[in-house]
Amino acid sequence: MPLYPPEPFRIKVTEPIRLISPEAREAALREAGYNLFAVKAEDIFIDLLTDSGTGAMSQDQWAALMRGDESYAGARSFHRLKAAVEDIFGFKYFVPTHQGRAAENILSAVLVKQGQYVPSNMHFDTTDANIRARGGRPTNLVIDEAFDPANPHPFKGNMDIAKLRAFVEKVGAEKIPFGMVTVTNNAGGGQPVSMENLKAVAAVYHEHKIPFFIDSARYAENAYFIKCREPGYENKPVIDIAREMFALADGMTMSAKKDAIVNIGGLLCMNDESLFQHVKNELILREGFPTYGGLAGRDLDAMAVGLYEGLDEAYLAHRLAQTAYLAGRINDAGIPTIQPAGGHAVYLDAHAVLPHIPQSEFPGQALAVELYREGAIRGVEIGSVMFAYADPDSGKMIYPKLELLRLAIPRRTYTRSHMDYVADSLANIKSRAEAVRGYKFTYAPELLRHFTARFEPL
Ligand code: F0G
Repeated sequence: MPLYPPEPFRIKVTEPIRLISPEAREAALREAGYNLFAVKAEDIFIDLLTDSGTGAMSQDQWAALMRGDESYAGARSFHRLKAAVEDIFGFKYFVPTHQGRAAENILSAVLVKQGQYVPSNMHFDTTDANIRARGGRPTNLVIDEAFDPANPHPFKGNMDIAKLRAFVEKVGAEKIPFGMVTVTNNAGGGQPVSMENLKAVAAVYHEHKIPFFIDSARYAENAYFIKCREPGYENKPVIDIAREMFALADGMTMSAKKDAIVNIGGLLCMNDESLFQHVKNELILREGFPTYGGLAGRDLDAMAVGLYEGLDEAYLAHRLAQTAYLAGRINDAGIPTIQPAGGHAVYLDAHAVLPHIPQSEFPGQALAVELYREGAIRGVEIGSVMFAYADPDSGKMIYPKLELLRLAIPRRTYTRSHMDYVADSLANIKSRAEAVRGYKFTYAPELLRHFTARFEPL
């Protein structure tokens, strides 16, 4: 097979997209206050805002929708999902949820008490916020290599085991209701965690009787990275690698909108029966009865099928190659990206493209706006708009280490020519980068400001 194999599917249903004129793009930007979250989807040509819930379902998933059993309790759809979840993940108990953050909310509501800590390699922002919402303190203990964009470490999502040990000793195991690892590490560039590291993390947690939960949004991509990069796994089926990963843990949260290739859905799994009782009660309050958990029966059926399709090795080989191909073409245009390419997204170093724009003028946002202006392409800034904050004591602005633009690739949705178009658009921007200007806020809410802020060009 070539390094970037052809799509292991052909197209049966199409969804039209259109490229509006440069003038119409300029008007759309003005109207949106230069925030791409506020641009209408119909005015976007290639949408790389997220890989979450944006993938294309297969013919088998669409067929499964018709089998959806909408019984309030004990639906056939639930039992089909249960069989898939038990087969792949192997946990004793589980509930469906409407998406990943609902699973995080329920787990945090049941387990996290004021002042307790939840370590991870890096929490995704909804996990971080759900732990904080219960008075907890999420703590990131990823290896230092994760913060060096050029470092080609094959498992840059790994937890730093020495930091984890020191952390548990410092705060005390009794103040840690559960520990986590995110696979792959989205907040750190979609980087995988090795099996060796997962085993070491599990050993530390279990030595201290701390339950170990995996945030498994992109577990199949992680398992495929293990197959490709970790000695001893090259001949092991990806589904067995996944089983080995989850056998190390006591439970998991999952946004099924990623590697289960559904438009909506999530999972919360665990082995502890008394925890399951509490989870069910909280679920009934927040999401719905434990056999549907905030979803329609048909959604459960689509998930049951999608869980297996996400593990298909021909699909995974194409998927990771597509991301690496886009990253490679962007690098060829002289634009650095986090190395190596992640599973689901390419993370561009906006500061390197626009070195003349200081962090106070949002280079990541400027690059995101420019990519829309150039090609009606939407990515998401992961930089000062998202993360800079005023220090409560000194009032001084604290800026993040990296100014990134994330281009997340929806599953089974775009082809190689779409990737070429994105890379060509970026190359055009690179050739006129000195003329790109920064932005300032005209409105910014206190929290999660990237969603609703408005800007003005400087
Ligand atoms: N965990 C990880 C690692 C994620 O990337 C996400 C979502 C969630 C949990 C929350 O899941 O959206 O179903 O509630 N990530 C999306 C993204 C939104 O664009 O990276 P959710």
